[in-house]
Amino acid sequence: MDESKHVKIVIRGFDTKIRQFRSRLYEIKERKFASVLDALIHIKEKRDATVSFRYSCRMGICGSCAMVINGKPRLACETNVFKELESRDSIVVAPMEGHPILKDLVNDFDDFFEDHKSVKPWLFRKDKKEKFAAKKEYKQSEKERDGFLTFSECIKCGLCYDACPVVNTNRDFIGPQALSQAYRYYKDSRDQAGQSRLIEVDSLKGAWGCEFSGSCSKVCPKGVDPALAIQSLKFEIIKNGFLGKLNKPEQRIKKK
Ligand code: FES
Repeated sequence: MDESKHVKIVIRGFDTKIRQFRSRLYEIKERKFASVLDALIHIKEKRDATVSFRYSCRMGICGSCAMVINGKPRLACETNVFKELESRDSIVVAPMEGHPILKDLVNDFDDFFEDHKSVKPWLFRKDKKEKFAAKKEYKQSEKERDGFLTFSECIKCGLCYDACPVVNTNRDFIGPQALSQAYRYYKDSRDQAGQSRLIEVDSLKGAWGCEFSGSCSKVCPKGVDPALAIQSLKFEIIKNGFLGKLNKPEQRIKKK
């Protein structure tokens, strides 16, 4: 039995020549289990080679295919075409507007990765030579691991930035992805940066910029819950502040 059907895809891409959004409608035949990404690849290969979008893994791991599908920030490779058409007769795809747009559905991630880098997303060890000549494994208990595991699932797709009302109005705010990673490393028992990680985000640009709308957690395709991470950072900042542990600028993590 042929389980394919005709579907309408509207690409509301950004046209770099006229510096405006332009909608193009494509009618294609798609299979039952096709994703929106499959449909876009179909259009690019068979109908219009000029359509631009990002993708790599096609299985929800690389985070490259993030876009707005029928008004919601989502991964195109994890959105089923037939399911989308249960309640409407066409699928509208557009680029995320929480990031600068380069062309069509392609966003520029330079600022996003600068914010990510700003929280020093790596394990900090006091002994600089240790990583080249470790003498032992750094084992963690299940409890220690569970303190940060969910936050380490981030695939850096940028959907949480697109959903965040603060990022969309104040680009100084480093955003939910970077802050969730600050907490992820703060909670890792192998990390030795300690309270310096809290000092780095103790500002309006950091944790205090969050207005707790919770939209970042709603759109995260991996269930990372950045909103929880940010509220946890605030709690740790207050707790450590009361204990007098956040007053020393020299505690900041030294640049590598
Ligand atoms: Fe990698 Fe969609 S293509 S997450």
